[in-house]
This record gives sequence, structure tokens and C-alpha cells, in this order.
Amino acid sequence: MEKKITRIGVLTSGGDSPGMNAAIRAVVRTSVYHGIEVFGIMRGYQGLIEDDIYQMESRSVANIIQRGGTILKTARCKEFFEFEGRSKAYANLKKRGINGLVIIGGDGSFRGAVQFGKEFDIPCIGIAGTIDKDILGTDFTIGFDTAVNTAVEAIDKIRDTMDAHDRIFIIEVMGRDAGYIALHSGIATGAENILIPERKTDMDDMIASLLEKERRKKLVNLIVVAEGDDYGGANEVEKTLKEKLPNAEIRVCILGHIQRGGAPSCIDRLIASRMGYHAVESLIVGRHNVFVGIQNNKMHYIPLENAVKSKGKISEEWIKIVKILAS
Ligand code: F6P
Repeated sequence: MEKKITRIGVLTSGGDSPGMNAAIRAVVRTSVYHGIEVFGIMRGYQGLIEDDIYQMESRSVANIIQRGGTILKTARCKEFFEFEGRSKAYANLKKRGINGLVIIGGDGSFRGAVQFGKEFDIPCIGIAGTIDKDILGTDFTIGFDTAVNTAVEAIDKIRDTMDAHDRIFIIEVMGRDAGYIALHSGIATGAENILIPERKTDMDDMIASLLEKERRKKLVNLIVVAEGDDYGGANEVEKTLKEKLPNAEIRVCILGHIQRGGAPSCIDRLIASRMGYHAVESLIVGRHNVFVGIQNNKMHYIPLENAVKSKGKISEEWIKIVKILAS
């Protein structure tokens, strides 16, 4: 017989993503609705180890659904990789009688939860929160839509000045292991080339096509590069292009952490609310050690240990569309 969930802890871990606050709000208010006590854990697993934990109520999450970042703060906690760190974390949960844990984060945070769940008697539920959308098993991760829209807005602005000066622009977007932000923002802004970690960059092919465009006076060219592209990011691409296209005017812009902030989009608020609600429902019905995802607009519960990066899964059709539309 499963133990009744009476006290839930919630934390955000890893890189923050817009919509995490909406997810916290949903977890807190669904718990309160069910008469379950709920505790906010500060700075992810770090706060769990350091006992930085406070009780939350419905009002604790007022006026946050529209805010980026995370009111619980976040961290990438090395100590939690060690058994000693996890033991301290468990002791802090135990002393408060917390018997369910909601982890809002990416695959790294979920891997921590798997180990924790194996060693200690604490049911864990993950909520997929990362701007990179690099977790297999869910069509959405909280923050991706906002990050892509931020990138699109910035690239549109760059396009104005790029066009005015007949320049080549190389814009680097986030995505250490995954190219979804680059692919989606690149397609949406009409990029001529999109370089992503999932595919080997064919620099010779890109140079040949830029030279051909130069011959026919198509001088405005947008290249969107994911930071984790195998060629080494925007600065490396610039070095090579400057050498091979001496007549071209080339500029670089690295968008960086601007993509992680800002008010979450409507989609991110919706999926965060839905996932937060279902995370608590799952704990209650005994569906443990899974993370909450959405596939084909239906809730999906994927074992935490299957939360692997979706590297290499970008569809060939997208790549073809980029090529055809960029001519
Ligand atoms: O995981 C999200 C992400 O934004 C990646 O795209 C990026 O490489 C990384 O986090 C940056 O992390 P940090 O803010 O710790 O430098």
C-alpha cells in the first residue's frame, strides 16, 4: 500500500526557464486544494542540502504567473552528485515529514532525482523545464516557446540593420546540446543557414553557397548558429568566413542569456500550469518517479530514468525546408 502524500516539497534546478514560476504556482495551489502542505526549497538541491526550506501557502505564489526566473531560485548543485549530499537532503525532508518531491528542471536534475529515489524512500516527480527543449518524450518543455520568441524578436531587429548595410550576420543562440532554438528561430526569421549540434556543419558547402549568392548580388545573409554547434559557435564561423569571403561585410551577435529571461509566453504559462497540476495529481495517485510531459496534447508520464537528451532527433524534413526556403 502506497503511503499517503501529506507534505510536498518543490524546487527548481539547473538553468532557469520562463514559466517555472507558473509551474511553482500550479504545484502550490493544487497541493493546497487537496489539503496537502507544501514547502518551497530554495536554490534546487543546494537548498535541500542546506535546509533552506520554507512552508508555502496559496498567497506565496500570488502575482508570479507572468514573471520570468524562479522565485525559488535555482542552482546546479555538485554536492547532490555525492551520496553524502543526498543523505543530508533526505534528512532535511524527513525532519519536516515531506513525503513527495516535485523537481522542475532538465535532464540533469532528473538524473539526480533518479539516484535520490533509489537510495531513499521519497517519491519524486519531474516537470520538464528548460529553454533547450532537449528532453526526449515531451513535445514541450517550459520556457522553450518564450526563448524562441525572444530570439525571433532580436533577430528581426538585427535583420533591419543587416539589410540596410548588405551584410552577412552570424547570430548565436543558446543550445549547448540541442539545436531547437536555432532551428525554430532560424526558420521563423528566414535564415539562409542554420547550424546545429545534431548535424555536422559542412563549412565548404556553406562557403560555396555564399560565394554563389555574392555573384548574384544577394549580399544579405543570415546565419543562425546554436552555441553547441560542432564548428565552435559564431566566432569560429566568423573567422573562417572572413578568410574565405574577403569582400563580404560580416558581423556577429551572440544573444546569450537574454533568451532565458522575460515574461513567459502564453503557451509556456499554459503548459507550466498543466504540468504543475498533473505533477501533484500524480503524486497523489501513486504515479511516482516519472516526469510530466505532453505528447500530441495529452499528458505523458515518462520514467525519470528515461529522461535523456533528444540529441540527433531533429527531423530531416526541417533541414530540407531550410534549404529550399533559403535560396
Ligand atoms: O540549459 C539551458 C542553457 O541555457 C543552455 O542553452 C546553455 O548552454 C546553458 O543553459 C548556460 O548555462 P549557464 O547559465 O549556467 O551558463
